[in-house]
Amino acid sequence: MTDERSKRRILSGMRPTGRLHLGNYMGALYNWVRLQHEYECYFFIADIHALTTDYAAPGDLKQKSLEVMLDFLGAGLDPELCVLFKQSDVPAHSELNTLFGMITPISWLERVPTYKDQQEQLREKDLATFGFLGYPLLQAADILLYKPDFVPVGADQVSHIELTREVARRFNQLYESAVTPEVAAAKSDKELMKAEISEDVLEYQLLPEPKALLTPSPKLSGLDGRKMSKSYGNTIGLTEAPEDVRKKLKTMVTDPARVRRTDPGDPDVCPVGDLHKVFSTPETLAKVYDGCRTATIGCIECKGWCADSILREVEPITARRAGFAAQPDVVREILAAGAAKANAFANATMRDVKNAIGL
Ligand code: TRP
Ligand code: SF4
Repeated sequence: MTDERSKRRILSGMRPTGRLHLGNYMGALYNWVRLQHEYECYFFIADIHALTTDYAAPGDLKQKSLEVMLDFLGAGLDPELCVLFKQSDVPAHSELNTLFGMITPISWLERVPTYKDQQEQLREKDLATFGFLGYPLLQAADILLYKPDFVPVGADQVSHIELTREVARRFNQLYESAVTPEVAAAKSDKELMKAEISEDVLEYQLLPEPKALLTPSPKLSGLDGRKMSKSYGNTIGLTEAPEDVRKKLKTMVTDPARVRRTDPGDPDVCPVGDLHKVFSTPETLAKVYDGCRTATIGCIECKGWCADSILREVEPITARRAGFAAQPDVVREILAAGAAKANAFANATMRDVKNAIGL
């Protein structure tokens, strides 16, 4: 077995929201970049998923997906280390989704907490659709096609991974017995075929159940103090111009107790303090705590340090992104190569799945 294949596999996806903001970055991409050295990685842009909520006004999804791919590459995802692709370039996602629809009780989908939550939060959209209810099934298909060991996600996605596991279990129960050990063996390494009774054959699972890999997603406050979110319009972009980052920070709300410069404040109740905790060094953070609580620094100074800390993290990303943005052919090739690898893997899974069902 080659080194590559002995690595455990992870898969994760992100919706094409257009350019990412710092919250998107810290919540996912930052972790992915670190995971790529340890795992065999599949990362994709969930462009079909975007339609589950935005079908009425999808905007330019091609462009938005490209922006996200540039942010992936800028952040340091390396196409030599990860398979990077777009969901709609791999038809098997939709195909497996259809098959999962046959075996999944509607009640399982209605029970997923994000279903009602999102409907309530996005009241302006009509989300009483088949596709929106089925969102977690499409996600299950995204995942199970690649038989990953782990799915790195934030806490908000855990219920979707749980459903994915339930769907895999039900699917295996229904169809696995149709797979003879011979067939199972043929799907594994040649080496295993030679083995008398390989443990891997006995343990063969048509669709192995993956586990969630809970990645840290620190609370990132937006400019108005609410959670940083595109829908609140309170974001700082991942690759925004330095002068814009500084300008935005100047408008950011602070601890309301600091009305005058001489009033002490508390970084623990200040949204700027939250950003410091994520981006600043321990030394800077210590200066912030001390200076704020003793009113020996002003908020303007504190925000300047905060901007410095953010820019130190994101400036290399902005530069790398610009490099890729200047070479659209290279990006197109990366996407095409990613799609080819993803299709090869996904189609192999679909062959097993169809065989098992008897299609
Ligand atoms: N639902 C995820 C989100 O909103 C995106 C996503 C789609 C995903 N398919 C996935 C994440 C598969 C992990 C694995 O963030
Ligand atoms: Fe917030 Fe910094 Fe002002 Fe304290 S000094 S209130 S942490 S901006």
